Amino acid sequence: MCGIVGYIGSKEKKSIILSGLKELEYRGYDSSGIATMSGEKIDCFKAVGKLSNLEEKTKNFTSDGFGVAIGHTRWATHGKPTEINAHPHLGEYSFVTHNGIIENYQEIKDELEKDGVNFLSQTDTEVIVHLFEKFNEELKDPFKAFEKTISKLVGSYAILIISKAAGDTIFFAKNAVPMIIGQDDNGEVFFSSSDAPLIGYVKDVVYLDDKMYGYAKKGVVEIYKNHKTIKPQKHALPTDRSYAQKEGFRFFMEKEIYEQSTVATETMMGRVKNGTIKFDEISPEIFDGIDEIVLCACGTSYHAALTASYLFERVAKIRTKVEIASEFRYKEPFLNKNSLFIVVSQSGETADTLEALKIAKDAGLKTLAICNVDNSSMVRLAGNVILTRAGIEKGVASTKAFTTQVMTLWMVVLYLANLRKILSNDELKNETKALLNLPKVLEVDPKLHEKIRRISKHYLHGHGFFFIGRDVFYPLALEGALKLKEISYLHAEGYASGEMKHGPIALVDEGLFTIALLPKNTLYEKTKSNVEEIAARDGFVLAISPLEFELSDDFIKTSEQEHFMSEFFEMMVVLQLFALEISIRLGNDVDMPRNLAKSVTVE
Ligand code: M6R
Repeated sequence: MCGIVGYIGSKEKKSIILSGLKELEYRGYDSSGIATMSGEKIDCFKAVGKLSNLEEKTKNFTSDGFGVAIGHTRWATHGKPTEINAHPHLGEYSFVTHNGIIENYQEIKDELEKDGVNFLSQTDTEVIVHLFEKFNEELKDPFKAFEKTISKLVGSYAILIISKAAGDTIFFAKNAVPMIIGQDDNGEVFFSSSDAPLIGYVKDVVYLDDKMYGYAKKGVVEIYKNHKTIKPQKHALPTDRSYAQKEGFRFFMEKEIYEQSTVATETMMGRVKNGTIKFDEISPEIFDGIDEIVLCACGTSYHAALTASYLFERVAKIRTKVEIASEFRYKEPFLNKNSLFIVVSQSGETADTLEALKIAKDAGLKTLAICNVDNSSMVRLAGNVILTRAGIEKGVASTKAFTTQVMTLWMVVLYLANLRKILSNDELKNETKALLNLPKVLEVDPKLHEKIRRISKHYLHGHGFFFIGRDVFYPLALEGALKLKEISYLHAEGYASGEMKHGPIALVDEGLFTIALLPKNTLYEKTKSNVEEIAARDGFVLAISPLEFELSDDFIKTSEQEHFMSEFFEMMVVLQLFALEISIRLGNDVDMPRNLAKSVTVE
């Protein structure tokens, strides 16, 4: 997830773009850049790391007078966070900024290279500017060239292009990622990925719909869809900046829960295609000679790894172990040279996981990092890397990072199963169908959210929580309990349902809440019996299931899904919202819970 801003007018362009980018920094900041154009004069600056680095680089630069400008803050998905890969990307006489992923960039790039175009960066974005210039040479009409460029792109995009071919104009297009346009009373035009950068400049804005595109000049904003002009509705801008940064949500965690549907699409983009799985970033050889998978992580990432262990064994038929990184480090692990050692980490900086990765590497194992932050320590160290593409996660309690970790690992399982011909084409198709259905499954139903908000008041007292489930719903139970304890400070534990009778059930009484995960597709009857044992001892039960459960005190009905992983993700959203609403009722700081840090770089 990146952020883009654009401006057409006579104010100092650099300041407008930089202050806009500052408001978007929460969307990602591994690099940033700006391009301004006044008449024939084009200036471009890029910097790696936080926006302050770009501010420093441009401190002696001013861009007065009428002109156009675009800026970008990046969260890498294709290519390392380097200056070359930072946006804006340059053609011969035009610049582009882009948020999203161009799925068919490789095909376009191959074609353009045949035409003699030289690419500087490793990004998917650079193809846009070269394609635009190619069509402009052919058509001698920059808008028609832009229209034709957009028609060739497959994927998600919010695009801004400035070009010497139309020095007073910004070309824009939007599909599946946000783009907002506003105009002030003097006809000056502002673009942004979210409301915050526009507050104070314009009173109302247009939220572009998917597949809208057009061009803007001072006093003119022309919007098209399917070659027809559109007159979209304007909306008043909110006035509170910090509220706008959270895009109307009360907390970043809440926003990130709602974002899961979108980031799920990004995670799969270019990877789930034509009923199979493809990873441009790894080669099949990494699985040569591998007879065991070892997954290693901490906290929520450990729960993602544990979930994946069920899938590796069941679907890819390979022996799989899961290690808590802090334990692995000192247990003098007996390592099998034929293991693929996979670390899972949102930040890529967690000290325990990083050290575990070093141990595995030093022992000569093949390594793979499943990580959200490009250029992080783990990404630099691991032999192979797959980025999860969740975008920046601000809430300390991980939500969308977990979703994308589980999805990415599931894709790796299918990739391996396909490689080893363990799944038939139909079985693989069925799995990819379930994956592609996830953006829908992850959409938050406002009625469900309201129900969880209402029932959350039942759970503010009592002496603790058990979260229980079987199979992959066991790591999900662990994750539900972790979410709740992190942000509510209430005592919560996750258990495998079948383990209750071996001790924990002794704690059950009317003051203990049991959150029971009862999916239809996985061991329903078995889990139900475990929950009945708790209900019989007067425990307070919240059942989460597509099937009515008459013994529960509270019940959250989930949908009838065909695939158990769809049930997994639907229940995951319920657990995240449950923790969120309890924490809000208790008056806690959801995004920055006490005693915790987003990235744990100490032992
Ligand atoms: O950045 P990592 O994924 O390596 O972090 C691991 C844990 O510290 C992290 O998942 C932690 O448990 C979160 N606060 C969970 O919400």
